[in-house]
Amino acid sequence: MRILLFLHLLGASVWVGGHLVLLLGVLPKALRQRDPQPVRAFEGIFERIGIPALLLQVVSGLWLASLWLPHDLWFSDLPLARVIQAKLLLLAFTAALGVHARLALIPRLDAQSLPRLGLHILLITLTAVAFAWAGTGFRYGGLL
Ligand code: HEM
Repeated sequence: MRILLFLHLLGASVWVGGHLVLLLGVLPKALRQRDPQPVRAFEGIFERIGIPALLLQVVSGLWLASLWLPHDLWFSDLPLARVIQAKLLLLAFTAALGVHARLALIPRLDAQSLPRLGLHILLITLTAVAFAWAGTGFRYGGLL
């Protein structure tokens, strides 16, 4: 369904784009100045757009995946099943990173813990980019 793919791509633009702006635009300056404030300000704004975008990704993604492959084959060793498994694994990793950041890192964010949050931002951005790469696997029939 084209509208579903459109929504998925729109959500992907927000999720990947937002994290790239954070990683490459906001974080380096905050690290140089040892000031977590710009990161905190960005997170405050991005949270309101990024979380709905991620939810949109999950709903549209699961829906699209069920159009590509019936559910009972999702955990088989077919190449398309491998792509779906990769997406689900990335989703679990994203959720774990998100919960850890929200509960452990952001509440106690200061100049000292900023590099740790930086590493975290790097990981979540790489995960977001990997999501997009895995997305191309449906059209090209496999992960690689
Ligand atoms: C932030 C998370 C995600 C991002 C950034 C993302 C990104 C993308 C991108 C860029 C494509 C484009 C593929 C193309 O046009 O060839 C795609 C396709 C796809 N994604 Fe995701 N995705 C995400 C999450 C998910 C999740 C959780 C699922 C669930 C299994 C999923 C399932 C799919 C499916 C089935 C397609 C193929 C759509 C089609 O061509 O019909 N995605 N994704």
